[in-house]
Amino acid sequence: MAKRIQFSRHGGPEVLEYLDYQPAEPGPQEVRVRNRAIGLNFIDTYYRSGLYAPPALPSGLGTEGAGEVEAVGSEVTGFAVGDRVAYATGPLGAYSELHVLPASHLVKLPDAIDFEQAAAVMLKGLTVQYLLRQTYEVQPGQTILWHAAAGGVGLLACQWARALGVKLIGTVSSPQKAALAKANGAWATIDYSREDVPARVLELTEGAKCPVVYDSVGKDTWEISLDCVAPRGLLVSFGNASGPVSGVNLAVLAQKGSLYVTRPTLFGYANSQERLQTMADELFGLIAAGKIQVEIGRRYPLADAAKAQEALSSRQTTGSTVLLP
Ligand SMILES: NC(=O)c1ccc[n+]([C@@H]2O[C@H](COP(=O)([O-])OP(=O)(O)OC[C@H]3O[C@@H](n4cnc5c(N)ncnc54)[C@H](OP(=O)(O)O)[C@@H]3O)[C@@H](O)[C@H]2O)c1
Repeated sequence: MAKRIQFSRHGGPEVLEYLDYQPAEPGPQEVRVRNRAIGLNFIDTYYRSGLYAPPALPSGLGTEGAGEVEAVGSEVTGFAVGDRVAYATGPLGAYSELHVLPASHLVKLPDAIDFEQAAAVMLKGLTVQYLLRQTYEVQPGQTILWHAAAGGVGLLACQWARALGVKLIGTVSSPQKAALAKANGAWATIDYSREDVPARVLELTEGAKCPVVYDSVGKDTWEISLDCVAPRGLLVSFGNASGPVSGVNLAVLAQKGSLYVTRPTLFGYANSQERLQTMADELFGLIAAGKIQVEIGRRYPLADAAKAQEALSSRQTTGSTVLLP
């Protein structure tokens, strides 16, 4: 028997319940992980609210965690009981003391990375890996725009961009968040709650705009983002913090300068154990080299997952938040 967070209907954080739960025995290619730390991610709020559909209700929640392998299925190779592991994808249910998932979603943790750091960085760090290194391969000296730069994904992006010699302009909603983004490597910040973002981007880039804009805010920033992309540049729309982008008129891409748009997900990039491991190796390498520091802004007991989600949705958090079972 274990404890987990579960929800039986969609709604606000109040639908999350902390309940007893009997995890299944691992199938032939599955493992059971005893979670030591669990990652809080904005995507968890989309499943809870119903913006994204879970396979069935009642459902567990969360896809990111770190801990020890406690049991392995008969066909699992490469992982053994006692291994220190982390994961960022796979079935919902990471908000739990025990999580059963396919071994193909696991990576082994280097000794230098503790469980809290791993839970804080796996999903968000792998996301930054694919966005900066695969969706668009940013080059030293380029100036890029990244929305919500003081958030979990955002602070990692600031540091990764600095490590690559890329000038990241980060949007934020307060002076405190601006200072944090700067301290983590943002080249410049814009307070999008009060400043004219396209005008500031024009100024900062001396009229050139950005070859790539990374937008996870969605509805509220879509139009702004389009105005910050250089001709034939790329708008990467990768989240819905303010609500989903809908009703896009393709002609706008022509009007704004023959732009490209993509709507990627981590699951579309880390879609094999080999790719996942390659991406994680790059992330862990930057952490080991001291180029990325994992900023854990808050820690909550697993039982308080609803409070943690409330804080995330109301823009009170900075950096990563972890839940502790
Ligand atoms: N597609 C993918 O593969 C992928 C993977 C991971 C994450 N994501 C997306 O990346 C984003 C960041 O995720 P995260 O977990 O690191 O969260 P986060 O950035 O720590 O939190 C979201 C931030 O968005 C900003 N925001 C702007 N408008 C908002 C609104 N109306 N309500 C709430 N927040 C608003 C807030 O920063 P300010 O106060 O500074 O505005 C807030 O702190 C999310 O949109 C998530 O869905 C996508």
